[in-house]
Amino acid sequence: MSETGTILNVTNVRKTYTLGRVKVPVLHGVDLDVRAGEWIAVLGASGSGKSTLLHLMGGLDRPDRVKGERASISFMDREITSLGSHALDKYRARDVGFVFQFYHLLPELDVMSNVCVGGMIRHGRLGYRTNRKSIQGRASELLGRFGLGDRLGHRPAELSGGERQRVAIARALINEPRVLLADEPTGNLDQKTGDSILDTISEHRASAGLTMVMVTHDERIAARADRVIRLVDGRVQEDPGL
Ligand SMILES: Nc1ncnc2c1ncn2[C@@H]1O[C@H](COP(=O)(O)OP(=O)(O)OP(=O)(O)O)[C@@H](O)[C@H]1O
Ligand SMILES: [Mg+2]
Repeated sequence: MSETGTILNVTNVRKTYTLGRVKVPVLHGVDLDVRAGEWIAVLGASGSGKSTLLHLMGGLDRPDRVKGERASISFMDREITSLGSHALDKYRARDVGFVFQFYHLLPELDVMSNVCVGGMIRHGRLGYRTNRKSIQGRASELLGRFGLGDRLGHRPAELSGGERQRVAIARALINEPRVLLADEPTGNLDQKTGDSILDTISEHRASAGLTMVMVTHDERIAARADRVIRLVDGRVQEDPGL
C-alpha cells in the first residue's frame, strides 16, 4: 500500500478498440483511486466500459498510448502497464482475483479443479504439487462457504448459472488476493442467493482485508459498497447519491 492508503490507482486512462478500420473509443481519461480495504461499486449503462475498465485494472488488457499524455495504472505504487509478461502474470496470479462477467470456467474440469487452477497458475507445477493439500483444503473450504460443498465433482455444464458464478468467485479468491475485481458477480442470481453470496464475500472481505471493485447494474447492491462510481461518457463520476 502507498503512504496515502491507495492500493490501486488509475490515472488518465483511455481505451479505444479497433475493429478493422473502425475505432470504438470507450474510455476517455478515467481517473480512479482505490484505497486499501475499500469496496467500490461501479455502475454505468450497458456498453459504458465497465468491463473494459476492470480488465485494464486486472492487467488483462493495456490502455491506449497517447502521444504527449501520461496514462498510468499502478498497484501499490508499481506501474502495471509497463510490466513485462512474466511480471504481469505474477500480478494477475497473486495480487488480484478476477471474476469474469461470463465466468470463463474450464468446461472439461470439475468444480474443485476449476478452483484449484488458480493455485496451479500461482505456484507453478512443482510448487502446486508441494502445496496441493493446502490449496485443495482452501478450495473446498471456499466452495463449502459458497454452498457448493456437494457439487465438487460437477462440471460447469452440470451447474446452474448462479452455481457457476459462485465457482468463479471461489476461483478468484483461492490465492488470497489483495484486490478482488468482480464483474457483475451476482448478475445471474436471484435476490436471495445474490444477497447471501454478497454476505459471504463481505465476511471474507472483513477477515482478509480484501479490497473490492465490483461492477453491478443493481443499485441495491451498490448501496452496500463504501463508495459508488458511475461510468458516464467514458469518465468516472463519483456518485454521492446512494
Ligand atoms: N474486444 C472488443 N472489440 C471491440 N469493441 C469492444 C470490445 N470489447 C468491448 N467493446 C465495445 O466497448 C464498449 C464497452 O464494452 P464493455 O464490455 O466494457 O461495456 P460494459 O459497461 O461492461 O457493458 P455491460 O453492462 O453490457 O456488460 C461496448 O460498446 C463494446 O461494444
Ligand atoms: Mg460488462
